[in-house]
Amino acid sequence: MLITLWLRLGALLLKTLMLLALIALLGWALNSAWSIWRYQGPVSTEEQVPPGEAAMTQDIIQTAVRIVDQHRDNTRYLRDAHAKAHGCVKAEVQVLEQLTPPLRQGVFAEPGKTWQAMVRLSNGNAYPQFDSIRDARGMAIKLLNVPGTQLLKEQQGRGEQDFVMFNHPNFFVSDVAEYRQNVAAQADGKKVGAFFPGWDPRTWQVRHLFIALATLSPPPASPTQTRYFSVSPYKFGGANAKFRVAPDPDSCPAYNLPPQNQALPNFLRNALNQQLSTDRVPACFVLQVQRQDPSHYMPIEDTSIEWRESDAPFETVARIRIPAQDFDTPQQNLQCDNLSFNPWFGLEAHRPIGGINRLRKAVYEAVSDYRHSRNAEQ
Ligand code: HEM
Repeated sequence: MLITLWLRLGALLLKTLMLLALIALLGWALNSAWSIWRYQGPVSTEEQVPPGEAAMTQDIIQTAVRIVDQHRDNTRYLRDAHAKAHGCVKAEVQVLEQLTPPLRQGVFAEPGKTWQAMVRLSNGNAYPQFDSIRDARGMAIKLLNVPGTQLLKEQQGRGEQDFVMFNHPNFFVSDVAEYRQNVAAQADGKKVGAFFPGWDPRTWQVRHLFIALATLSPPPASPTQTRYFSVSPYKFGGANAKFRVAPDPDSCPAYNLPPQNQALPNFLRNALNQQLSTDRVPACFVLQVQRQDPSHYMPIEDTSIEWRESDAPFETVARIRIPAQDFDTPQQNLQCDNLSFNPWFGLEAHRPIGGINRLRKAVYEAVSDYRHSRNAEQ
């Protein structure tokens, strides 16, 4: 009697599991079919500004400044994002000697040209935290003494070209409207509300939640051992493109970083220090562009979409060399904190495009001005 009951229960459980598996399979198949239908080219090569974007941007600035105020570290005001630096290092960016004419754009116009640059390596979080905690890792490059008209009218004296990247290829929101909703929820401590704003399943951002979770990844062994992506698109002369920076060990002397103690709060800074300062070994990267092919699904106005390499390859346009150096001094660390990197510091040939970049134009400036002015008052 008891055995029959158990057998029946077992059979029922098995059937339920099979039914659930079938429903999941069906859901997956429907989702894939929908994605293939929705995410296909051709796409526009032009920007499309939705109504109300300027007002939403003002809202986001208020939230960003609120975050800067919330996470003041003792006396200094930090960045609203990427607050913790592993170091600012000097670098040389050399344009490839052999470049086909379509790749000779903006600061890459002159084959063989070497730019002096500063590179800031960072964790993504708004609060400085242990490097072992899952997070995005940032790389911001500033080419110096760049001639030509700057994009921002008030920055004409700067002579800079910045590339601002982190180590994941796509962003956890598509556009300004979604960013506003997401960040406002997060600033109010509503982590679930950030991706599930209401009961209506059509507003749920499951795919974007997965992107956010994947962006918060375990740390690399060193900031020199991961790839960095521009995520959002830029002009590249007459074309549109995204940027990527990838380690290029073959261009540097062979080097094996000794294992670092990852329990130490700043082990990524220690790793950088060990390679550049103690072992005196340079670090090498390639700087690449991925040009938009509008016949494929490579949209400008949706940063949650990774442009597939199978649709358009990354092409190397320059080599970055971070020479052996001592960068970890109190004076240089303060200078590093006082620098501002901004995708809008640069030339028309590399104009940032798309909603998230239009948003960054206003927000980086506002936050940077705010923290600099508050720090100057200290
Ligand atoms: C395309 C995606 C994005 C990437 C790849 C990115 C990357 C970065 C990186 C690497 C930094 C640190 C720069 C440094 O070292 O000084 C940074 C700073 C910052 N990011 Fe982003 N970011 C992105 C999107 C956004 C968005 C959508 C916002 C808000 C609207 C934002 C707001 C900021 C702010 C306020 C700072 C600090 C600026 C300063 O005080 O100097 N970022 N970002």
